[in-house]
Amino acid sequence: MSVLDLFRLDGEVAVVTGGAQGLGEQMCIGLAEAGASVVVADLNLEKAQKVVEHLHTLGVSALAVKVDVTKKAEVEAMVQKTVEHFGKVDVLVACAGVGQWMKAEDMPEEDWKRVLDINLNGVFFACQAAGREMLKRRKGSIITISSMSGIIVNTPQAQAHYNASKAAVIMLTKSLAAEWAPYNVRVNTIAPGYMETQLVADLLKERPEYGELWKKLTPMGRLGRPEEIKGPCVFLASPASSYLTGSVLVMDGGYTIW
Ligand SMILES: NC(=O)c1ccc[n+]([C@@H]2O[C@H](COP(=O)([O-])OP(=O)(O)OC[C@H]3O[C@@H](n4cnc5c(N)ncnc54)[C@H](O)[C@@H]3O)[C@@H](O)[C@H]2O)c1
Repeated sequence: MSVLDLFRLDGEVAVVTGGAQGLGEQMCIGLAEAGASVVVADLNLEKAQKVVEHLHTLGVSALAVKVDVTKKAEVEAMVQKTVEHFGKVDVLVACAGVGQWMKAEDMPEEDWKRVLDINLNGVFFACQAAGREMLKRRKGSIITISSMSGIIVNTPQAQAHYNASKAAVIMLTKSLAAEWAPYNVRVNTIAPGYMETQLVADLLKERPEYGELWKKLTPMGRLGRPEEIKGPCVFLASPASSYLTGSVLVMDGGYTIW
């Protein structure tokens, strides 16, 4: 098989949580462009349906599913709907996540718990539900979306809960990779640096000057474009990465080098 064919996902079924916008939306598009059928799962069903309409124009099957990843039963229903509709799950991208800036000493309990609940518990529930289907078939590729914030502490903004959640996603990824390797289920994580999505735009409204500072702290001198996550995602989803599991694919314009 030629190397470019290794990146094809024809006949594969992918589920993307947080697929309605930003990085998740781009990964839905990338997986579809590689030939996969895609389930766009998100809290925002209306936006998920818009993404599905776009995927249909690419000539693939797609389905929008409403899910709150913090609700285990809803996550299990998401996987069940995928299996009912498409017969299987080959790829999971656990992308749904939120960010917030807040000093640790001022952080109310609810904010700490909300960020951990979405960013960590939500990723675990999705991996567990999709993983069970994959283990049965002895086949699967799971991609979690962590962050460079799971490796370094961002500056100057304070976000201890976010950083802790992303570090936990990295170790969760490695733990699942070790447990599920014997079943031919690979689990890897993409750790992005600053990407120009709504999440970052909303945060920058508080302190627009941070955007320029972040660029200076990034060797490549710019933020990432959301569509730049398509390549790493399709690579990890496909047989092109068949010997990778438990790996942390850092895509940060070089931020963590310095
Ligand atoms: N943008 C960045 O710079 C950046 C950097 C590193 C990591 N990340 C991570 O990438 C992921 C996507 O970020 P983004 O920038 O595209 O964000 P975004 O805010 O643009 O999109 C996030 C999506 O997740 C959905 N979502 C939020 N809570 C949910 C829940 N409880 N259940 C289901 N869906 C939910 C939202 O509706 C939205 O569609 C997040 O995990 C984020 O932490 C982003």
